[in-house]
Amino acid sequence: MKNKKKLTIGLFGLGCVGGGLYEVLNRSSLIDAEIKTICIRDQNKKRTLSEYILTTDRYAILDDDEINVVVELIDDANAAYEIVSEALKRGKHVVTANKKMVAEHLDELIKLARKNEVSFLYEASVCGSIPVIRNLEEYYNNDSLSSVTGICNGTTNYILSQTNRGLTFAEALSKAQELGFAESDPTMDIDGYDSKFKLVLLIKHAFGITVQPDDIANTGIRNIKPQDLNYAAEKGYRVKLFSHAQKIGKHVLGMVAPYFVPETHFAYTVENEFNAIVVEALFSDKQLFIGKGAGSYPTASAVLSDIAALLFDYQYEYKKEQSVIDTFFTNDFSLDIYLGSSEGEIGLNELSFELEYTRFVSDEYAYKTGRVLFSELKAMDFNKKKHLFFAILPDASVGLSENPRITGAQKNKELIPG
Ligand SMILES: NC(=O)c1ccc[n+]([C@@H]2O[C@H](COP(=O)([O-])OP(=O)(O)OC[C@H]3O[C@@H](n4cnc5c(N)ncnc54)[C@H](OP(=O)(O)O)[C@@H]3O)[C@@H](O)[C@H]2O)c1
Repeated sequence: MKNKKKLTIGLFGLGCVGGGLYEVLNRSSLIDAEIKTICIRDQNKKRTLSEYILTTDRYAILDDDEINVVVELIDDANAAYEIVSEALKRGKHVVTANKKMVAEHLDELIKLARKNEVSFLYEASVCGSIPVIRNLEEYYNNDSLSSVTGICNGTTNYILSQTNRGLTFAEALSKAQELGFAESDPTMDIDGYDSKFKLVLLIKHAFGITVQPDDIANTGIRNIKPQDLNYAAEKGYRVKLFSHAQKIGKHVLGMVAPYFVPETHFAYTVENEFNAIVVEALFSDKQLFIGKGAGSYPTASAVLSDIAALLFDYQYEYKKEQSVIDTFFTNDFSLDIYLGSSEGEIGLNELSFELEYTRFVSDEYAYKTGRVLFSELKAMDFNKKKHLFFAILPDASVGLSENPRITGAQKNKELIPG
């Protein structure tokens, strides 16, 4: 361990997480770190903090040579990217919780951090308080890791916990909004984008490759109907939204999609706003991490842990990048799904199945189960198909195509450090 040093922090954002961090840091006597300046957006907002520490000028932090750490906790991914890249260029360590910003600019920000010999940490951006990034980074051996599966979004897990108990999707969403679990525009959560940004980071640290967010299919839960929930309940399943990635030989596949899970599945009892991740590896088998994926203090605790790690010059090393030179992401595989349609057979026939196991048609509803090509499913953009809902069936085995097409440029190639 290297010598401890003093951390002087410039904090961006004083909302849910930033406010939590301010309190948590003040209460923690173990960390020799001090917040010198806080940059916010609206100087007219009423706050309990004294004004001398606040600014609306980002350069009050970026130009301050005494500040050696920027903690970025704002709710604007574009501004966050500008702030974070500028901070790295100026040789400041960065800790952030912004999964969208990190997922969209991952390789570029890693490069900048390396070039400027600073740390760039983002534990809080995936599943809040659950220490999954550092565990994937440090603990698991690449060759033996086979899959990572997570409930990475508390809002959708809360909504699904309610629909699994009989509420309609609309009722469950409005309850989540009343309780502050869902935003007034819930698109990022319920259409699976938030879960997808987190999956990009999980794939990077589990399998060493960088996947562009657009290359990963994300289907959420907004089109789930009572008939789909009845089907699941009759079979003894609950519906969960998973961020899932697995490695098969030299290929990595990944998706955000609704899954039907039986009582024996780890996720069956992970309810409400909780998050969970299962890491599967050859020798250790399955390991489950569970905890609060959001909220002021839980998220602040992960940020605090990154700040504490800076005291010892901790950096992600992305060790797995070097052993996966021929590993590629692909959407070229088949798997078993349930497809429900509120527009009868016409709806069902919009997606052709390689194999069909069951089909049911009534005046109000129709469904079929069977095997589909995932690339065709991805091309349909199910978030926009109001009359259709699909879920991946329990124990759906994945069939990789004979010559799987590589999806997206494997940008990680140019990242190997010199
Ligand atoms: N909330 C959670 O549970 C949670 C969990 C995991 C990760 N995250 C991530 O943490 C980050 C912060 O989320 P949050 O929930 O704390 O957001 P929030 O409560 O909406 O607070 C956002 C803060 O950012 C400030 N801000 C916005 N744009 C700014 C800019 N251009 N310059 C300076 N300050 C700016 C706002 O200033 P004003 O106060 O002046 O409006 C506010 O203080 C996001 O990236 C989010 O995805 C949040």
